[in-house]
Amino acid sequence: MAEIIFVTGNRHKVEEASLTLSKYGIRVKMTEFKKVEIQSESLEEIAGNAAQTAANALSASVISEDSGLFISALAGFPGPYSSYVFMTIGCMGILRLMSSQPDKRAQFRCVVAYCAPGAKPILFAGTSLGTVSNSMRGHWGFGFDPIFVPSGKDARTFAEMTTSEKEFLSHRGAAFRSFGQWYEKTNPSSGV
Ligand code: IMP
Repeated sequence: MAEIIFVTGNRHKVEEASLTLSKYGIRVKMTEFKKVEIQSESLEEIAGNAAQTAANALSASVISEDSGLFISALAGFPGPYSSYVFMTIGCMGILRLMSSQPDKRAQFRCVVAYCAPGAKPILFAGTSLGTVSNSMRGHWGFGFDPIFVPSGKDARTFAEMTTSEKEFLSHRGAAFRSFGQWYEKTNPSSGV
């Protein structure tokens, strides 16, 4: 089984990525290396820069990931600032901002960046369309999972789904599937 280093401090992201990548014969290893996160409005730039910095520092091929919740009625807020907004106003703060908004549409986006030492990052994107719920529901997952209802299933939030159910519908599942397909093609010996 191939092994790939994932530069992140978020164990939920590692769990979700592991579930997807195991289907492509890839084992995910979390690293102690502190992810470098530049200020940018582009998930592509943030993920790409983090992967490139880590690949060069560790002299190893790595993946990094950046993601965020983009709410239509709030002109895409919190978007690339999702991590900070989650730490400050949290799910309840978003629900308050959304309480008078009839348009509940939102989407999660994820960009996975793969980078080898001395090379340019290669990017893989995934999106999950859905709506912001009226209240927090569920205890699984992390971040804004309790207030996001993905389209195409039922009225449950991500936090009311198992990791497998979320993986099937999520932005991260889509981005890592796209990376897994590419990796399998590029490294044919890595397969299960
Ligand atoms: P970052 O990618 O580490 O900068 O963090 C993005 C932030 O967006 C996280 O801290 C979460 O608050 C939120 N987020 C990203 N993906 C998800 C997800 O799958 N579920 C819930 N919240 C998420």
